[in-house]
Amino acid sequence: MHEDIAKVLIAEEVIEKRLDVIARKVHADFADEDSLQVVALLKGAFVFMADLLRRVPLRLEVECLNVASYHGGTESSGQVDFLDRKLPDVNGRCVLLIDDILDTGRTLAAVTAKLREMGAREVKTCVLLTKDKKRAQEVEADYSGFEIGDEFVVGYGLDFDGKYRNLPYVGVLDPSIISS
Ligand code: XMP
Repeated sequence: MHEDIAKVLIAEEVIEKRLDVIARKVHADFADEDSLQVVALLKGAFVFMADLLRRVPLRLEVECLNVASYHGGTESSGQVDFLDRKLPDVNGRCVLLIDDILDTGRTLAAVTAKLREMGAREVKTCVLLTKDKKRAQEVEADYSGFEIGDEFVVGYGLDFDGKYRNLPYVGVLDPSIISS
């Protein structure tokens, strides 16, 4: 275990087994579609997206969107910024929106609204983690890997100040790292 991690919340093997289950659901739900547009949110979803999509044998296209809501700390800023100049053309398409974690709900709500406004026929949302808390925006993920308590987590794509994204598990940081 990394020395900055106080505890491993979800081990690598547990994540892998859960991905098999989610992938089977996604496959079954979209099996009748000619094509599926995946939109994954950077940077946090990059590990989850790569591991999940390799388990989904559908004809799909992948786009990544850069959105920012944290700006360096451990609390959402409350504002969702789209950092890309050009967004993918989703007009008339079925979209699977992938994010790392559902926290306040602002990110998924804002991006789902944007994709619908851009003409997406259907938007389904998929997150690795759902925080058990009251959300600022009423939003539920269609597919969710794990429910966790309301604590700040890192690893498996999630960062603190740009670090720890490469850890193969989801863990809780030692409090001294956040306060220092
Ligand atoms: P909202 O609040 O919009 O948050 O649902 C979504 C984005 O906030 C980031 N986030 C976290 N990042 N550990 C992180 O490393 C966390 O515990 C955490 N909670 C929220 C994340 O980027 C997510 O996409």
